[in-house]
Formats: sequence, structure tokens, C-alpha cells
Amino acid sequence: MPVTLTFLGHAGFLLEAGSHAVAIDPFLTGNPVAKQKPADIRCRHIVLTHGHADHLGDTVTIANANGATVYAAFEICEYLTEQKVQASPGNPGGRIDTDFGWVAFTQAFHSSSYEGRYMGMPCGVVLHLGGVTIYHCGDTALFGDMKLIGEIYKPDIACIPVGDRFTMGPELGKRAAELIRPKVAIPIHYKTWPEMLVTDISAFAPAGVEVKILEPGEAWRFG
Ligand code: NI
Ligand code: MN
Repeated sequence: MPVTLTFLGHAGFLLEAGSHAVAIDPFLTGNPVAKQKPADIRCRHIVLTHGHADHLGDTVTIANANGATVYAAFEICEYLTEQKVQASPGNPGGRIDTDFGWVAFTQAFHSSSYEGRYMGMPCGVVLHLGGVTIYHCGDTALFGDMKLIGEIYKPDIACIPVGDRFTMGPELGKRAAELIRPKVAIPIHYKTWPEMLVTDISAFAPAGVEVKILEPGEAWRFG
């Protein structure tokens, strides 16, 4: 079954397969490149990589408007439960079966807090829906076990941060793609704030991996 990936800008996606819709890191309000508004997002599931405001974003608004369940680190889910959001906690190494397929959490080398509150381990997430496997690396440094994650989950698509400063830059993102070996690598987490994040990602040219650049708001069908 084909999966439609809509890039929400920065690190956010809306994934749709058949009747299922899953948002990842839906940061729209205050996102200078976002084309969608929170009210545009229709989904029954939201997956978060970590608690930083540029990822948690509009999660509470979208979850409450849609009656969506949020999958995230334990501490993020404690916070969301206080906000009356239905939350399903996990942590790195774990997998959760869902009605659309499953979501697994991997490690990420980063930090995770929201408004000064500790939000648990930062994560990468692997989603399986419509027969397609997508590894969203979250915000992370390069690490050698990306090769292992690639071997275990065999992702069709990897979403790889390349904006530098807070994550890998284009050169290290290239190395990440070559370790993960997805069919397609989508660069994320760059250019959103040009004074902070890299805008030229021409060095993100992994050997043997197709690169798909999505513009904010763009929808792309895979499979
Ligand atoms: Ni972050
Ligand atoms: Mn970030």
C-alpha cells in the first residue's frame, strides 16, 4: 500500500496509508517554514522523538482536536497526560503495536526537555505502516549503531537531520545514510532558521542511497 509523506517543515511529517494517519513531531506554530496549520492536521496518532519545543510543537492542540494517541518517551507521556492528552509511553529499544502497524524507539544522542522540565531520553523512531518502514532519526549525533538499526529494521526511508549545530551536519548525515542504507534518505532539520542551521546541504550525497528533498508542505507518495 502506498504511503503519502507530507513534510511539515523542520522535522515534522504527516504519514498517511489507507485510512491511517500518523503525525511525527508536528511543530507548526512558530515554525517559520511551515505551510500547514494545526487545524489542517487530521490524524489518530502522533509520534514524538523528544520533548524540545521544535518537535513537541502543536502536539497537545492536534491530539485534543483529533482524539489522537501520542507515542513518546515515558516522561513526555507523563506531561501529556497532565494536559489531558491520551499518551502511550515507550523508551529506546521498545516497540509498540498499533492499529496502523507499529512504532519502535531507538537511541539518539541529544537532550530532551520542555519549558525547563526533563523529558526523558531523546529517541529516534521507526514506524511501520502500509507495509513501509520509516526510520526518523530524531535529533541526533552520528553513532555507529545506526548500522545495526538499519540491519534490524531495514527501513525503506530514513529521515536524517543535517542542519548542524544541534545535530549532524550534511557530511555526518551522509555517513549516517551510508550506515543505515535505506532506499531513500530525506534530509530534515536544516534551513528552518538560516542564522542557526545550515542551508547548503550539497554535501549530503550518500553513496548508494537515493536522496529525496521535500519542501515544507510538499506531499510525496512512496510504494
Ligand atoms: Ni532537539
Ligand atoms: Mn530540534
